[in-house]
Amino acid sequence: MNKDALERIRNEQFRGKIVSAEEAASWIKDGMKLGLSGFTRAGDAKAVPMALVNKAKTESFKVDVYTGASLGPEVDQYMVEAGIINKRLPFQAEPAMRKKVNAGEIIYVDQHLSHTAELVRSGLIGPIDFAIVEAMTITEEGLIIPTTSVGNSAIYVEHAKHVIIELNISHPSELEGIHDIYIPAKQGEREPIPLTKVDQRIGTIGISVDPDKVIGIVVSYQPDAPSTIVPADEETALIANHFLQFLREEVKTGRLTEELAPLQSGVGSIANAVFSGFLNSEFSDLEIYSEVLQDSVFDLMDAGKVKYASGCSFTLSEEKVQQVHENIEKYRDHLILRPQEISNHPEIIRRLGLISINTALECDIYGNVNSTHISGTKMVNGIGGSGDFARNARLGVFVTKSIAKNGKISSIVPFVSHVDHTEHDVDVIVTEQGYADLRGLAPKERVQKIIDNCAHPMYRPQLQAYFDEALEQTGGHQTPHNLDKAFTWYTNLAKKGTMLDTVFEVVQ
Ligand code: COA
Repeated sequence: MNKDALERIRNEQFRGKIVSAEEAASWIKDGMKLGLSGFTRAGDAKAVPMALVNKAKTESFKVDVYTGASLGPEVDQYMVEAGIINKRLPFQAEPAMRKKVNAGEIIYVDQHLSHTAELVRSGLIGPIDFAIVEAMTITEEGLIIPTTSVGNSAIYVEHAKHVIIELNISHPSELEGIHDIYIPAKQGEREPIPLTKVDQRIGTIGISVDPDKVIGIVVSYQPDAPSTIVPADEETALIANHFLQFLREEVKTGRLTEELAPLQSGVGSIANAVFSGFLNSEFSDLEIYSEVLQDSVFDLMDAGKVKYASGCSFTLSEEKVQQVHENIEKYRDHLILRPQEISNHPEIIRRLGLISINTALECDIYGNVNSTHISGTKMVNGIGGSGDFARNARLGVFVTKSIAKNGKISSIVPFVSHVDHTEHDVDVIVTEQGYADLRGLAPKERVQKIIDNCAHPMYRPQLQAYFDEALEQTGGHQTPHNLDKAFTWYTNLAKKGTMLDTVFEVVQ
């Protein structure tokens, strides 16, 4: 038996449970519901999913896959390509998965990431046949120590009929101790969550499990798939600068100090680049209370800018993984990973007063934000935690480039084609053109700020003309719109390949 694996199973009751991935996969049958570990490619079960892909060569079956967030290629690409996923929730971000979701071949439920655990607890999602969770160690007390994410593992383990543990020995054992597992009681019987500070521990270092439910432990050696973040470019650097300028104004008014308030940054290249902007700023002693911790958080720790980071996963590029593994002792005293219902919990987000930075695909002139659907119908990734944070944060900030696809698309539009974050949840919009502080403004007051400060100059006359006409036609309604014209921006894009109206091209 593998010596490294045995050393990591410190409880006798679990030692006799080692099985091959193939054997574990043989227990999984058509129509089953699986609760998998993993959050944004980190800490996901990998060996059993690959064994399921192989099993699909000789057996026809489909399963429902519930996770923390998007997973690596074993699930969100290879299981997809094998045609064995029926339903998927609560987040996805791989091109193969996206393609099948938009082809109507996989049912996808796009959920606020703090909601999934409540739905499992209340029985609306489930019953879960198997929880398959990646672990680094099983302690003497029988606690499952997760790896690079916590996600929804604890709630899946609690509610599944059976549990399979993937003991992944590629993760450094020094990570033991960075997790803090706290599971709230049922709604209606729940005490306030006793978390009042970013670095506070309120739970246990691992997930408790009834040993009888664990019917197999599969040893795995496969590292997490690296993140696919692209480095900052000219526009994202400008977005970061405008955002920092906004924060400076907040400090000047006394609403914030130079330590700011706990920061959250969403997935994606733009949000990652905005965080990197803090590197060359005067802000220091920062705290992060986020869900996914990307490369930029570790860069900020290295630079001494961040004193503590709490998340529910860390998702790193290939070179960053290497660096973090080599310096794990340095980071572990400044890091904590929590279940996603705690990292994203509205109660805590509001209590701590977060500054939350998430990415929009498009915003409209009144401040509604679409983060998920291209031209209103085609899913990109999903809402993720952006709604958990934006609605409850002290400051709900959305960042986006003002144009996409070389200017054929304006990311500021008259009426977003899909609403993820309503005008009531969006405090500040930042593009490479500037920022619009929308707090305390009525819809008609917001319009001018968004057009003048955030829209690309090539689209400003067209947006202004839309608003002026709508204002006149409605006689000054609370939120003026011309519904005949609002969505012509998308029909023009589909028919002519651009949102830009030829009339305004001439004006330019
Ligand atoms: N219309 C159509 N396409 C648009 C667009 C628009 N208004 N704005 C951007 N795009 C395209 C880009 O051109 C790019 O296309 P490509 O992949 O073909 O190059 C793609 O959308 C992604 O944009 P990009 O600029 O690379 O941004 P990103 O990597 O920062 O991702 C989101 C942006 C919105 C997809 C991503 O942040 C996301 O999934 N957000 C929702 C989830 C979330 O916020 N979670 C936060 C809590 S962790």
